[in-house]
Amino acid sequence: MSSTSEQLSSQSTYRINDKVLTMATLNPHIANIEYAVRGPIVIRAAEIENELKKGVPKPFKQVIRANIGDCHACGQKPLTFIRQVVALCTYPDLMDNPHFNDDAKQRARRILDDCRGHSIGSYSDSIGIDVVRHDVARYISERDGGIPSNPDDIFLSTGASEGIKAVMKLLVTGRDSPIAGIMLPVPVYPLYTALLAEFNTYPILYYLNEEKNWSLDTEELERALNLAKPHCIPRALVVINPGNPTGQVLKEENIKKIIQFAKRNNIFLLADEVYQHNIYGKDSEFHSFKKVMKSMGGEYEKMELASFMSTSKGYMGECGYRGGYCELINIDPEVKYHLLKSLSAKLCPSVTGQAAMGVVVNPPRPGEPSYRQFISEKDHVLGELKEKAQLTSRLLNEIEGITCNEVEGAMYAFPRIWLPPKAIEAAKEKNMEPDSMYCTELLEATGICVVPGSGFGQKPGTYHFRMTILPSVQELQELLRLFAVFHESFMIKYQ
Ligand SMILES: Cc1ncc(COP(=O)(O)O)c(C=O)c1O
Repeated sequence: MSSTSEQLSSQSTYRINDKVLTMATLNPHIANIEYAVRGPIVIRAAEIENELKKGVPKPFKQVIRANIGDCHACGQKPLTFIRQVVALCTYPDLMDNPHFNDDAKQRARRILDDCRGHSIGSYSDSIGIDVVRHDVARYISERDGGIPSNPDDIFLSTGASEGIKAVMKLLVTGRDSPIAGIMLPVPVYPLYTALLAEFNTYPILYYLNEEKNWSLDTEELERALNLAKPHCIPRALVVINPGNPTGQVLKEENIKKIIQFAKRNNIFLLADEVYQHNIYGKDSEFHSFKKVMKSMGGEYEKMELASFMSTSKGYMGECGYRGGYCELINIDPEVKYHLLKSLSAKLCPSVTGQAAMGVVVNPPRPGEPSYRQFISEKDHVLGELKEKAQLTSRLLNEIEGITCNEVEGAMYAFPRIWLPPKAIEAAKEKNMEPDSMYCTELLEATGICVVPGSGFGQKPGTYHFRMTILPSVQELQELLRLFAVFHESFMIKYQ
């Protein structure tokens, strides 16, 4: 072999044995992503489930998953009407089946008529099926007491997550400009910290006020903004209302102040409103950022705002369909052009998800054949969630060393654990966050799987965990009973 061919052959051997993509070459922004909701405790929960299947003895019979807002995974039944319309769209031969009501068939026909080749197996427009976007606009307008919504301001997305990502991407600064800053609540739903890491964007963290039921103080927004200004160009403010993981519902006055803050500081508003149907508090009501902004009139009406919604939450809980929409108002037309271009590169959101979103925004109306069943199923889900929200905070507050704000909305409680100093020291010795150690011990002792507060962010020196209110009433009562027993023994262990 000539020396050149020997060189080539040794190079190709090198290429086969050594990977191009290693931790040394991986995009560091991806390596920086953390996602607690599916983190080490959840991985351990899956291992324990396997161990239980193999007969490994444990002090419990099953893992109780209260770690993720996945309603159907916790046994919630899908709403008949949503499933019927999506089924009809998927398999139009069912149109002849007398089991399906005419209103379900009419909804499915409308959607299919707007799909290329009358099939949800075709790509839709990148911004989503036209008729569904029109129905979204009508839904928003009815929700907001008649304030107009323009279908051209709406794009459908693969879950709210992809919509959030698409808009967030627009706010990241370019190669030669200083880093963009985006304001995030703490505690926060970790999608946002993950996206900021991925996009190499500066997180401007503001704390929600636990003492005032996780409300949002504008003084705190100012503090966080001023602190961040030397490090980035502040661009946007994320507000999650109703809150995840904190379960608060913002009052109208509070929203007004947030909007005034954004106006004063020339900041783009990102309103995550995926839990708009999940309201349980006695005095709580959902106010969309758009409605409040429009009610303030004048210059406020011209502010840029993106609002996100999903099929995954509410009474639907249809996470697997990956349906979502974004209403984007007052956006510069040239920017919009580039947004649409970037959406086109992804072809289109899941069309099944678009059909599901279409049903959520165009449910049966009074007098239609499916109306009564639809309302009764919807009320049943929301009624149970309300009962579980109240039960959870009440039972948690009965436990010494645990305090929990009222779960006013969404699907989560975020109780504070008042950990003894010895537990904190023990965690440090194990090189763990104290609340991670607490949640790990909880899982190993009881099978209850919750997410440590450190995965969402929290004020230094405070410790929490997030649990969903999604298990059935019976399961939730059992979970909270087991939890109380565990907590007492944990406190004795580390007293
Ligand atoms: C506040 C918040 N925003 C967005 C999402 C993402 O929802 P989707 O399933 O529509 O992507 C979630 C999911 O839990 C959420 O809690």
